[in-house]
Amino acid sequence: MKQEYAISHWPDSKEILGKLKTLANELPLYQINRSKMAEYLEKFETKFAASKQLVEKAKERIPGGVQHNLAFNYPFPLAIAKADGAYLYDVSGNRFIDFLQAGGPTVLGSNYKPVRDKVMELINESGPVTGLFHEYEYHLADLIHSHIPSVELFRSLASGTEGCMAAIRAARCFTDKKFIIKVGGAYHGWSDQMVFAMRIPGLGTLDSHGIPEGCYTYMQEFYPNDIEGLEKLLKENESKGGTAAVIVEPLGPESGTRPVHYDFNAKVRELCNKYNTLLIFDEVVTAFRIGLGGAQGYFGVKPDLTVFGKCVSGGYPAAGGVGGRREIMETFAAGIQGLKKRAMVGGTLSANPLSCAAGYFAIKAIEETQAHKKAGKAGDKLTKGLQEIFKRYDLPFIAFNHGSICHMETGAAMLMELTNPKIFDQVGKRRKVMEELGAALMVEGIITLAGSRIYTSMADTDDVIDDALDRFDRVFKYFEPVQEK
Ligand SMILES: Cc1ncc(COP(=O)(O)O)c(C=O)c1O
Repeated sequence: MKQEYAISHWPDSKEILGKLKTLANELPLYQINRSKMAEYLEKFETKFAASKQLVEKAKERIPGGVQHNLAFNYPFPLAIAKADGAYLYDVSGNRFIDFLQAGGPTVLGSNYKPVRDKVMELINESGPVTGLFHEYEYHLADLIHSHIPSVELFRSLASGTEGCMAAIRAARCFTDKKFIIKVGGAYHGWSDQMVFAMRIPGLGTLDSHGIPEGCYTYMQEFYPNDIEGLEKLLKENESKGGTAAVIVEPLGPESGTRPVHYDFNAKVRELCNKYNTLLIFDEVVTAFRIGLGGAQGYFGVKPDLTVFGKCVSGGYPAAGGVGGRREIMETFAAGIQGLKKRAMVGGTLSANPLSCAAGYFAIKAIEETQAHKKAGKAGDKLTKGLQEIFKRYDLPFIAFNHGSICHMETGAAMLMELTNPKIFDQVGKRRKVMEELGAALMVEGIITLAGSRIYTSMADTDDVIDDALDRFDRVFKYFEPVQEK
């Protein structure tokens, strides 16, 4: 039932991957014209002076002045005071089109009133947390099951990071096997074992500062789309303690930044069956954004466990959980279990009334409004418009989307390959191009995720997208090749 999903067409992953490889590793780098960029930075300083003042103060008490990676914008973070639908407003009242959407959770648009009203009602009644069972814990789990039948049981947690930690623990507990295989370049949160081969495939432990190597003894990676590489690992592991689970983001690493081929997930499922290994889908980004059935509904592939985050609490904290086959999920039984095997999970504020009710009413609202489809349509329109802009100015940049998850590759720092001898010289320069683009777009009134990812929402009407495209155009017309000295 593809019409129920936000993805109107599956982008040609082979063609996109080929173009991305060329853009990141072979073509000259483009950047915003130097005098125009100086002008943007000057405007940034004056227009956002109040934010700067606040962040400078915050630096005295908060590392880097902000608490979240998404907020680390160049040249300094913005302090946001108001969120409403398609828009964010900073502390000085500057309005921005919000293509960050809090990193993905708000398919309905920011601060959606009907959900907020329900949440307020609940807080007035029970407060945000009691420590005891609340009926919305059941309502949320049941609603998830009704849309995603593979989730026979659901355990609420506080974040996607916790969901991934819990999923691999349950997989090991249930299978009595050791290895966890992930796709290189994928982000599954920041736990010790998962900060492995993050961002760039082949990275292994290179980026894992502050984590002892021993944490990775049973972690392995394979290259995106490399089914043969995956089978090789599965086969080798059989004599070494076996593979407990393969964990994938179903659109490809980093929410499809390196898109997978359409049949990738089905092939991984086949291999997991062949080697008696569990399949974990990390649907932190995709569940309820791609469609109510998640990416697994779109692809028609049933994982053993699914990790949730973001949309599962409708943009309210705390957003996380794991669900799946009853007999695996039952390893999460809490309390004293005698000698019964169990996967220990916990969290004082996990499964609180606030998060569960917010998730329940947000998912219900997505169902009623078909928000995912509207957001997907906005993503299609925006992507098409960006492609036209790149053509108009003869830029080698790439825009593609999976519904409301849009990718806009310019500096393409994360798409460089480790085999590229220039990687260490280039990666910083490429990141700078993306940071500058993010800053210029903010001056023009648009907020993106790190100048390369865009999440659209139901609030992005045709008018909002047309307005946004005019603003993108104003920036992209100033891009030119970097003159190497
Ligand atoms: C695919 C994926 N998995 C896990 C996580 C971690 O979720 P959280 O930030 O809630 O810990 C993220 C966060 O962006 C994600 O994109």
